[in-house]
Amino acid sequence: MDKIKNSYKKSKNIYDSVLTQKGFWGRLYIRLFWGGVDDNKIAGELLSRIPDDFSGRLLDVPVGTAVFTQDKYKKLKNADIVCLDYSADMLELAAQRLSGLDNIGLVRGDVGKLPCEDESFDFVLSMNGFHAFPDKEKAFSEVYRVLKHGGRLLSCFYISGKYAVTDRLVKYILAPAGWFTPPFETEESLRTRLSANYDITAFYTNGPMVWFCAEKR
Ligand SMILES: C[S@@+](CC[C@H](N)C(=O)[O-])C[C@H]1O[C@@H](n2cnc3c(N)ncnc32)[C@H](O)[C@@H]1O
Repeated sequence: MDKIKNSYKKSKNIYDSVLTQKGFWGRLYIRLFWGGVDDNKIAGELLSRIPDDFSGRLLDVPVGTAVFTQDKYKKLKNADIVCLDYSADMLELAAQRLSGLDNIGLVRGDVGKLPCEDESFDFVLSMNGFHAFPDKEKAFSEVYRVLKHGGRLLSCFYISGKYAVTDRLVKYILAPAGWFTPPFETEESLRTRLSANYDITAFYTNGPMVWFCAEKR
């Protein structure tokens, strides 16, 4: 966990521009190593599944810097939102972006040990997290535990076996540096995993990324 914490501490200032492809180098990196996948579009697809007048409880894990979610959260005035991340540095940036929004709580914690009650959330949003989480089994079981029956998991992350260039980048650079942690899901393993406990209402792959909406049975 220290390796993960330190890697996100070092990258927190370049993270946003790379993922949102704001600068030339970010766009080049995504085009060369990620098949040009558009994380902004994927985030938009996931967030559009949460109605602006939603008035239940939402857990965002990992919130990161809230770069993709800040605009949406400003609209979700009636929702009770918990944003959790392991990295204090990423949370610090999220806190700046979400300051003044009283319906949002920021929590430092581990997805593998969520400080939340069973079946207490209507939505769990998990963007770009599962490829980073060190203990995938615990992460999946904790997310399942805190979701209400009929509650939805909205998620996107890297899957292996789709794009050879990304697979090599992950294996030789991103995983050794601590940004990503194996083992990684494939499309097939993820479908099998989700099908056991969820009804899958949307499931798309875009290059080496998957995004989906799954409803807890
Ligand atoms: C790639 S960022 C994604 C953040 C955000 N959802 C986004 O899409 O921009 C991955 C985040 O996962 C967090 N993380 C890694 N392991 C974690 C864990 N065990 N529990 C909670 N957060 C964790 C990191 O601190 C980092 O902020």
